[in-house]
Amino acid sequence: MFLKPSHKMLAASRLPRTLAFQLSAAYSLAGLLLVLLATVSLYIVLRTELDKSTEQFLADKLHVLRTILQERPHDRDALREEIQLETAARHYQRFYIRLLNDRGVPILTTPGMAEHLDVAELIRRTRNHPEHSVSMTGLHGRGFRVASAIAWEGTPPVRSDTIQIAIDISEEEDLLRRFRWWFWAVLLASSVLFPVLGYGIARHGIRPVEEIAATARSITSTNLRERIRAEGYPSELASLAGTFNEMLDRLEESFERISRFSADIAHDLRTPVHNIRGEAEVALARARTVDEYREVIESTLEEAVRLSDLIGDLLFLARAQSPLTEFHRERVNVSSLLTTVRDCYEASASDGGISLVAQAGTESLTAELDRSLMLRAVSNLVSNALAHTPVGGTVTLAAGTENAVILIEVSDTGSGIPAEALPRVFDRFFRVDPSRSKASGGTGLGLAIVQSIVTLHGGRAEIYSQLGHGTCVTLRIPVPPRPDSLPSLLENH
Ligand SMILES: Nc1ncnc2c1ncn2[C@@H]1O[C@H](COP(=O)(O)OP(=O)(O)OP(=O)(O)O)[C@@H](O)[C@H]1O
Ligand SMILES: [Mg+2]
Repeated sequence: MFLKPSHKMLAASRLPRTLAFQLSAAYSLAGLLLVLLATVSLYIVLRTELDKSTEQFLADKLHVLRTILQERPHDRDALREEIQLETAARHYQRFYIRLLNDRGVPILTTPGMAEHLDVAELIRRTRNHPEHSVSMTGLHGRGFRVASAIAWEGTPPVRSDTIQIAIDISEEEDLLRRFRWWFWAVLLASSVLFPVLGYGIARHGIRPVEEIAATARSITSTNLRERIRAEGYPSELASLAGTFNEMLDRLEESFERISRFSADIAHDLRTPVHNIRGEAEVALARARTVDEYREVIESTLEEAVRLSDLIGDLLFLARAQSPLTEFHRERVNVSSLLTTVRDCYEASASDGGISLVAQAGTESLTAELDRSLMLRAVSNLVSNALAHTPVGGTVTLAAGTENAVILIEVSDTGSGIPAEALPRVFDRFFRVDPSRSKASGGTGLGLAIVQSIVTLHGGRAEIYSQLGHGTCVTLRIPVPPRPDSLPSLLENH
């Protein structure tokens, strides 16, 4: 059934939903409640205190008169003085007393009492409240607090008199009226000031958030250098800005790496294509002999192979990074894998006067690995080692386990890698000496591929190198080994 939205719902949905509005509304409400609480409680305390002091004043006066009547019933002067002179001396808070004998005839009265008070009304009002004072309005509209009490003459008591007492409380009523006026004025001013101030404070408080949002909005792939200046921000927002800046650092670095990578790909693809084109153009410039054509075709083929190897490597790296990449683990004898690699490179090693050794003692070491990928990784390492080891040097292949981790190690006694280049050797297209590597055909993808393969196996690759002394690359692959297949730790560890 279709429900019509009520007026209330419509009004609520029309309210601005900004944080500044919500904060200032909350401030205002809390502020108004506090002002209300403070003023109302002050008013109640003031009123109670004024009532109490009036009550005490009346009680004091009654006590004095009762004492005089009880102790000195014939001392009319003392009574007159108390009733006439003292009351007349008070100008602001006037009070009036009337003393009546047991027949209700006034004995003494404060002068002017009948002008201000309706005495008959006073008698009527106080008759039902023998102990407490009551309020009444005088003849000129002024407020009074009136009380009446029995007083005994003499000790032991001879007869009873009645004391009627009235105190003018119009000053106090004025004070309370002024207070009430101020109360409404303060409430009105607060209900205007609180929202205005609250909105200002909220806007000031969320300005950093807006600045962060503005920076985030202005960032594109071409201006990743922009950062939030968090000086003067409160600590919570400073840490938010810091986290945001760190994210931008990472993004900038990734973007830089991607653009460097693209530039490197373009460069590395262009070189063989350029070579093929140049040779073809030169060959076609004039008539050639069959041998010359064969030479050109051979060189073109070489460049084409290089090109397809490079594309193959790039494709491999791109696929290896996809989370969907599948690889086939099988039980692999690690030492026979090392022997296979050694056999592959033996010829080129002896051509270069380098001895290539696969360390013995790991015959029974088997693990669940992707054989062809591991062959590729170890081959890349051996090819690097051979390329950077001079005549008379040694390249050693070794394997072992350490706390349920398979270690495969390729070390050489070659040129080594400068310390500042070490952290980047696993980056794609990174070459310590690009000109030298170009000559030997290196593209700088070998170690990146090694790392991808090890990462696919859930492990990591580590490199140690000392310039002029040699390099050692260790592949650490966590494999839960079979208890019976564990040889002792690598001998050279
Ligand atoms: N054993 C090593 N000794 C000295 N330098 C090394 C060694 N292994 C790698 N390097 C340095 O690290 C760089 C990166 O190696 P990587 O295998 O990634 O690329 P490459 O060998 O230049 O090219 P590719 O392997 O793609 O043909 C090399 O250019 C080389 O400078
Ligand atoms: Mg290499």
